[in-house]
Amino acid sequence: MKVLVTGGLGFIGSHTVCELIESGYDVVIADNLYNSKIDVLDRIEKITGVRPHFYNINVQDKEALDKLFAKEEPEGIIHFAAYKAVGESVYKPLEYYENNFDTTFALLWMMRKYPKCKNFVFSSSATIYGVPDHVPLKETDPRKDATSPYGETKVVIERILEDIAKVNKEYNIAILRYFNPIGAHKSGLLGEDPNGIPNNLLPYINKVATGVLPCVNVFGDDYPTPDGTGVRDYIHVLDLARGHVLALKKLETNPGLVTYNLGTGKGTSVLEIIKDYEKATGIKINYVIKPRRAGDVAENYADCSKAKNELGFTCKYNVFDACLDGYNFQKKENQNK
Ligand code: WQD
Repeated sequence: MKVLVTGGLGFIGSHTVCELIESGYDVVIADNLYNSKIDVLDRIEKITGVRPHFYNINVQDKEALDKLFAKEEPEGIIHFAAYKAVGESVYKPLEYYENNFDTTFALLWMMRKYPKCKNFVFSSSATIYGVPDHVPLKETDPRKDATSPYGETKVVIERILEDIAKVNKEYNIAILRYFNPIGAHKSGLLGEDPNGIPNNLLPYINKVATGVLPCVNVFGDDYPTPDGTGVRDYIHVLDLARGHVLALKKLETNPGLVTYNLGTGKGTSVLEIIKDYEKATGIKINYVIKPRRAGDVAENYADCSKAKNELGFTCKYNVFDACLDGYNFQKKENQNK
């Protein structure tokens, strides 16, 4: 199957592209390099021996997308291209709503125009559970008003996909709710290297560990959690990438619309992550406690039994692996700069 991966040069996208190629899929990438770098394409080729067709386009641009579909005729889409920082979205709601909705609408119009393409994997997020009533979270737990515009875009797009699936029985749609993707490729060639100061915890710790930033700001230690800091489900990006391939294989069985949590099933606090990182790398990570960050919830982590039972999805890696892989990637990046 030929698969269009939007945001395919990004953190999760690039790891998923490698996994797809190594699983025998033919991959096309559309990415406008808003939060990624063109040399990731060379690195994908170095890792897999294959250089996917690449289109430097904004996925909101229907004309450019139409040219891509006419030429490439993809049968499946994995849609990563979105803005994704919870904290940032609180201050940039218009940008987040416009970008995350318009990219999705453009792709859905293409699916209507090009009926060969009936498989759609949507990158959703644990943030759709809002402030959870309990943890771990199951797919049957209610979607709630998200605590940020970022999360709200995921809530609304999930509902749109469900409504579309009801009247397009020929579509196969997988909604994948990621928890917190971390880590890097074992080769050290791919990882999370956002432009500017990282919003997310692990790329920030990577920059502290390699001397680029002085210390970690821990956003709040007064949450109702064991040590007062935020608890999340940190999943290795390589496990997450494999989860996408398993979901695509599921779509080939024509299941209609399916929804899965992709996490480890374990919650880890900010202070625990810092300790795990120090243990994995042998590096002291300095931190300072700061006030809570707008949009954050105290705790969320996954019940992944549905993905395990229906996709055969299990995590091969743990938080230590991810901390060490992320550190090795950042060290290599700094040397190349
Ligand atoms: C994790 C914890 C912060 C930075 C992410 C992605 C989002 C979605 C869900 C996929 C929280 C704390 C963070 C820092 C800190 N993923 N923190 N200091 O907010 O859970 O959201 O996962 O769809 O796209 O953004 O991840 O890494 O920003 O925060 O103390 O400098 O670390 O308060 O408790 P988050 P995060």
